[in-house]
Amino acid sequence: MATHDQQLTEFIRALEAAAKAATDVLDESGKRKATVRAVFAELDGAWAKESVEPAELDACRHLSAALLNAEHGPEPVANLTRAFEALAPALRWRLRPPDAGEDPGFRGGHANADIIGPAGLGRHEDIVVGVSLMAPGVTYPDHDHPPEEIYVVMSEGDWFNESDGWYTPGIGQVVYHQSSIVHAMRSGTEPLLSVWCLKRP
Ligand SMILES: [Fe+2]
Repeated sequence: MATHDQQLTEFIRALEAAAKAATDVLDESGKRKATVRAVFAELDGAWAKESVEPAELDACRHLSAALLNAEHGPEPVANLTRAFEALAPALRWRLRPPDAGEDPGFRGGHANADIIGPAGLGRHEDIVVGVSLMAPGVTYPDHDHPPEEIYVVMSEGDWFNESDGWYTPGIGQVVYHQSSIVHAMRSGTEPLLSVWCLKRP
């Protein structure tokens, strides 16, 4: 059986491949592609292993349906899904701190987990990698943060930022948020699963 180190290395490789598959296209330049490249250049072998106590939340009951949908996505997402499944039992799922005005269904309908991060399986000085899972019909609250962010989209669902409004990127796409832009996401009839990376400025 693979150790968590091997599983985590394989997950980061699969995440990089999925993110680059979406952004290494001929006509793409600019901050989305540059951020993907910078995140994985910094992550390359530079994280330290941590141990955390696994924990589950109510919303985790939607994980198997989300994974099944993701496995039927483009090949890089299917590979990422398999690498994620190997790690999933070790994750410490947590709730986002409560936010005034959040969707009433959000609290019991979401779960976040760090993969590389403060409560994650590994630690890095400047990069946090995590996963968000939402039950069907849930909206993640508007939020903003100084670190730039990329999401690898593993489900159907809608995404919002204050420049572009709501849009539907589709499974396999990479969503980019510049520093401090207000953003959100919402699930439709299926659960929403995505992996995100935050890069400190
Ligand atoms: Fe965010």
